[in-house]
Amino acid sequence: MTRLLVRDLAQVVTPAGIAAPLREEALGAVYVLESAYVLCADGRIEAVGHMRDLGRLEGDVEELDGRGCSALPGLVDCHTHACFEGDRVDEFALRAGGATYEELHAAGGGIFSTVRATRAASEDELAAAVRRHRDWMLQAGTTTFEAKSGYGLDRDTELAQLRAIRGAGGVPTWLGAHAVPPEFDDGDSYLDFALAEVLPAAADLAEAADVFVEDGAFDERQARRYLSACREAGLALRLHGDQFTEQGAVPLAIELGARSIDHLEATGPEGVRALAASDVTGVLLPASALFLGRTMPPARALVDAGAAVALATDFNPGSAFCESLPLVSSLAATQLKLSPAEALGACTVNAAHVLGRADRKGRIAAGFDADLVLLDAPDWRYLAYHLGHDHVAAVVVGGERTELP
Ligand code: NIG
Ligand code: FE
Repeated sequence: MTRLLVRDLAQVVTPAGIAAPLREEALGAVYVLESAYVLCADGRIEAVGHMRDLGRLEGDVEELDGRGCSALPGLVDCHTHACFEGDRVDEFALRAGGATYEELHAAGGGIFSTVRATRAASEDELAAAVRRHRDWMLQAGTTTFEAKSGYGLDRDTELAQLRAIRGAGGVPTWLGAHAVPPEFDDGDSYLDFALAEVLPAAADLAEAADVFVEDGAFDERQARRYLSACREAGLALRLHGDQFTEQGAVPLAIELGARSIDHLEATGPEGVRALAASDVTGVLLPASALFLGRTMPPARALVDAGAAVALATDFNPGSAFCESLPLVSSLAATQLKLSPAEALGACTVNAAHVLGRADRKGRIAAGFDADLVLLDAPDWRYLAYHLGHDHVAAVVVGGERTELP
């Protein structure tokens, strides 16, 4: 049996309780143990406790010195577009000069420029890209990540993306309805193709399906058609909704029993009330709002109304070239007015819930997967407090200390 003892930690922090998703006060409730250890065995957490209560351990035990460090649950990024080729640095510079994301998209750039680069890549190149991006995430403390397709929008590239994501250990989402590719006249004829030709194979590779509901992408009627077919094929449902405008994505997500609706920068009071009364998790992406210079999502109103919220990066080359959940936690505290504890619950337990893994991921508790992040900081709240600084000193994945790339 392989065992790893992480010892002499200044702090161990974990969201309290065992429930998921966390709402209202429960979202901000954490247990903090000082002078603590975490014992991992066979990929799971065997025990967590105070150093003074640590008895003699028999057999082979590898030790990791946690002096001066705080241990947090491995972070869970439940919304990324980590499988892409190329970059959009030229568009980034144009946006800095005043061009908008929507203008670039309407002119055939934006998502379409990444589609061109991704279609031109081999499957090996896509797999290497996901691994590179996964390593960036790991350096920032992310031990579980979701990634979407959506930059192929043809059969071969979409399926190659999903295989590349799985191969790199990511949780794959089929974003078959990200944009209408130029070879189709309209969204309906593209969906005829995608649902008949891609969905049957995508449903074997992906865990969830996602759609971008927005002007210039898919409308509510098309999203209902796409998501209903995907649900029929056994996929969990996610939506990109209310990013720029409200298009009925919130009521649709609730009607269809979606796992999540993501973005919500444009969501008004009615949408907040409806989400709070539902089982749909709102995934907040403040790095995307920051990167595009948009208003932040109504995070405080959502939490106070009782909605389940998660935090994620939205890592992608166009609207959020940022893989850091620590930075997202800083934005949550400074821009969304979530406490550091609420931010922690949102990018651990609630993010794991969105991925259907809250029974194994997102907590430091006996029986959970032994995924840990060690920050070289005396207080775990440095996660959000130290803006833009990398405090990740070590990462444990599945009970094994992983060399940071
Ligand atoms: O979540 N809004 C749609 N999709 C992504 C951006 C993808 C891109 O710009 O490449 C998002 O922001
Ligand atoms: Fe996204």
